[in-house]
Amino acid sequence: MKSILVTGGAGFIGSNFIRMVLSEHDNTFVVNLDKLTYAGNLKNLKGFLDNPNHKFIKGDICDTKLVGKILDEYKIEAIINFAAETHVDRSILAPKAFIETNIKGTLVLLEAARDSNLLKFVQISTDEVYGSLGPEGKFTEGTPLSPNSPYSASKAAADHLVKAFGHTWGLKYNITRCSNNYGPYQFPEKMVPLMINNALNNKELPVYGDGLYVRDWLYVYDHCTAVWKVLTKAPPGGVYNIGGCNEKKNLDVIELILNRLEKPKSLIRHVADRPGHDRRYAVDASKIIKQLNWQPSIGFEEGINKTIDWYLQNQKWLVDIVSGNYQKYYDSIYSNR
Ligand code: NAD
Ligand code: DAU
Repeated sequence: MKSILVTGGAGFIGSNFIRMVLSEHDNTFVVNLDKLTYAGNLKNLKGFLDNPNHKFIKGDICDTKLVGKILDEYKIEAIINFAAETHVDRSILAPKAFIETNIKGTLVLLEAARDSNLLKFVQISTDEVYGSLGPEGKFTEGTPLSPNSPYSASKAAADHLVKAFGHTWGLKYNITRCSNNYGPYQFPEKMVPLMINNALNNKELPVYGDGLYVRDWLYVYDHCTAVWKVLTKAPPGGVYNIGGCNEKKNLDVIELILNRLEKPKSLIRHVADRPGHDRRYAVDASKIIKQLNWQPSIGFEEGINKTIDWYLQNQKWLVDIVSGNYQKYYDSIYSNR
C-alpha cells in the first residue's frame, strides 16, 4: 500500500503502529488523523513527527468533510481505524463520547471508504466484544458477540456496521480483535502503566475486587505486526483474533511490577470492584497464526521488563500527563473507593 490513513495515531497503539510502519516498510506514506483527546499526545510521535512519509492532521473522525478531503487529497488506499474512546472505567462514568467516536465516527469513515473504492478498511476492534469467559475455553472468531460494558458495546456496534458495509456494498474490510496490550506510550489510566506510575511514587496500587481477574497480555509491537499482516495479506471479509496466549491474573502482573521496581507488596490495596467487571479474557489466535503466518515475538517477562524500562527512562512523559487533568480523573475514579 502506498498511502494509508491511520486514525488515532497519536494514541498508544496507533503511534506504535506508525513507528513500526515507517521504520520497517519503506514505501508507505502515512496520514495520521487524530483529535488529540486526553489520550492523544503529540509526544507519542517522538522520532517520526517530521518524517517525510508521515503527515499529522489534527481532526475528528466524525468530521465527514475532513475525512472525504483527506481520502481525495492523499489518494488513500487503505484506512486503519484505531481512533476510539478506549477506557472501560470512563465508559461507565460517561458513555456518550464512546457512542459518538466509536460508532458514529466509524460510520463516517465507512461511508467515505465505500464512496472512494478503498483497497482495504481495517477496523481495530477488541476481544472485549465477545464478553466474559468462565475458567475454561477461549474466544474464537465464531464466538457470538456479547459485550458487557458501554465501551465494548460501542466497539461491537462498530464491528456490525463494518460487516454490514461489506455485505451491502462490497466494502473490502477486515476486523481485528486483540487482547490486552501493554508497552511504551500507554496512557496511565490502564492497569499496567497506572500500577507502574503509582509504584514509582510509592502510592497505593488499587486492585479491583479480588484481583483474580484474567487478561491475555500482548506486547504492543506484536499487535502492530499482526495488524500489518492483516492489512497487507488477509483476504477481505475476515475477522482475525490477535492474542499472546498469555493469560495472567491481575495480581500476578502487579506483583511482577512491584518485584521489578523493588517495591513492597504492602502497596497493594483491594478496592471496590469495577461494575460489571468481565472475569476472564483468553484469545484463540490460531487463525492469524496459521493463515497469515504471524507469531508474537516478545514473551511476557521480556515485554514487562522493556515496558518498565521505558517508563523509567521516560518519566518526563509520565509526569507531564499525571500533572494535568489526570489527577481530577484519578480522584473521580479512586477516591473513597
Ligand atoms: P488510546 O486511548 O491510547 O488512543 C486513542 C486515540 O484515538 C487517541 O490518540 C485519541 O486522541 C484518538 N481519538 C479519540 N477520539 C477520536 C476522534 N473522534 N477522532 C480522531 N481521533 C480520536 O487507545 P489505544 O489503547 O491505543 O487503542 C487503539 C485502538 O485499539 C482502539 O480502537 C481500541 O479499541 C483498540 N484496542 C485496544 C487494546 C488495548 O489493550 N489498549 C486492545 C485491543 C484493541
Ligand atoms: O481486552 C482488550 C481491552 O483491554 C481493550 O479493548 C481496552 O481498550 C483496554 O483498555 C483493555 O481493557 P481492560 O478493561 O481489560 O484494561 P484495564 O487496563 O482497564 O484493566 C485491566 C484489568 O485490571 C481489569 O481486570 C481491571 C483491572 N484494574 C484496572 C485498573 C485501571 C484494576 O484492578 N485496577 C485498576 O486501577
